[in-house]
Amino acid sequence: MQVTPTSNSVSAVTDTRDRHPDHSLDLTRLEIDYLLNPVEANQAELEAAQDVVNGLRQPQKTLPPRYFYDDRGSELFEQICNLPEYYLTRSETAIFNTCAEAIAQITGACELVELGSGSATKTRILLNAYQAQGHPLRYLPIDVSAGILESSARDLLADYPSLTVQGLVSTYQLALERLVPAQLPTRMICFIGSTLGNLDPHACDRFFSQITRALQPGEYFLLGVDLQKPKEVLEAAYNDNQGVTAEFNLNMLRHLNRRFDGNFDLTQFEHWSVYNESQHQIEMRLRSLTAQQVELRALDLQVEFRPGETILSEISRKFDLDVLQHDLKTRGLVPIQSWTDPNHWFGVLLCQLPLKDAA
Ligand code: AVJ
Repeated sequence: MQVTPTSNSVSAVTDTRDRHPDHSLDLTRLEIDYLLNPVEANQAELEAAQDVVNGLRQPQKTLPPRYFYDDRGSELFEQICNLPEYYLTRSETAIFNTCAEAIAQITGACELVELGSGSATKTRILLNAYQAQGHPLRYLPIDVSAGILESSARDLLADYPSLTVQGLVSTYQLALERLVPAQLPTRMICFIGSTLGNLDPHACDRFFSQITRALQPGEYFLLGVDLQKPKEVLEAAYNDNQGVTAEFNLNMLRHLNRRFDGNFDLTQFEHWSVYNESQHQIEMRLRSLTAQQVELRALDLQVEFRPGETILSEISRKFDLDVLQHDLKTRGLVPIQSWTDPNHWFGVLLCQLPLKDAA
C-alpha cells in the first residue's frame, strides 16, 4: 500500500511517462495530499475487508459496490457509460452543457471539491464555464486511489493553464471532516454521476450531514442524481444487450478472488438486475446457479450458496426531485436551482448552506 504520513504534501509526479508531450506542465500547480497516515490507511483496509465478511454473513448476502472498481471494473464502467441503453451519463452531460454557465454565474469565483475524480468530462464543462467568466480555477478531487487522482489531475493541468489542483488521497468521509478553508471566495462540493444512488436512505442521511458539516455558510453543494422513470427504461439500462453490465457485475467476484485469495467460479453465478418499484431502486444481484461453497482464504471466510441464492451487489436509487429537495432542505442544504433534461430522466441540483443571518 502506498502511503505517506498525514497531510504530507508530496511532489506528485514520480514517473517519467509524459502523456502530454505537447504541453509543458508547471508542477507547482499540482499538489497531492495523503489524509490517511499508514495506521489510518491500514484501519480503512481492515474495515473494508470486514464489510465483505459481514455482508456475506447476512441472510441476504451483500457486497459493497466499491469492489466493482478495480482497473478492469473502471474500464467496464466507462463502456457502460457509452451503451445505448445507459442514458445516465449522456443525460447528465447534456444537462451540464446547459447549466454550467448559470452555476458559474450563481457561485462566482469558486473552488471545486469533487468526491471521486472519475467524471472528467462533466468536470471540464464546469471548468470551462468558470474560465469563460474569467474566474480563477482551483480543483480539489478526492479519491482513495492516488493513481487515479494523479492521472486525472495531470490531464486537466495540461489543458487548463491557470488551473491549480490539490488532490486528496482519502475516503470521502475523512476528507470532508478535514477540509481546510477555501482559497477562493467560495467553494462547491460536487457529488455528481448519481453515486448518491448507491447509498440507502440511512447512509444518505448521514452523508448529507457530513456535507452540511463540511461547508461554511454561503458555500455550495452540487448533486447529480438519476430520477424515477418507467421500469422498462431502467431495466434496459441495467441489462444491456451486449452484456457489459453483466460482465461488470461478475467482475466484482474476480476482484474479490484476487484481493482476498478467493475461489468464486464466475461461470457458476449470473447477473440479475430488476427495478424494485416500491423502493424506487435498481437492485443488482449475483445469483448462484448451483449449490456451492466459496472460500476467501485471506479473510478466513467460507460461504455456502443454495441454488438460486443471490448476493446483492448494488442498489441504484432513483429519486423524485421534489422529495429530494425537501430532504436536502431539512438537512440545512437549501436548494437554489435544479435542472433536468427534456425527458426528465436525470437531475442536477445546486444547494447552498445559508449565511447565518439569512432567513
Ligand atoms: C456509478 C453508481 C451511478 O448506479 O448506475 C452502472 C453504477 N451499475 N451499471 C449506477 C452502475 C450498473 C452506476 N453508478
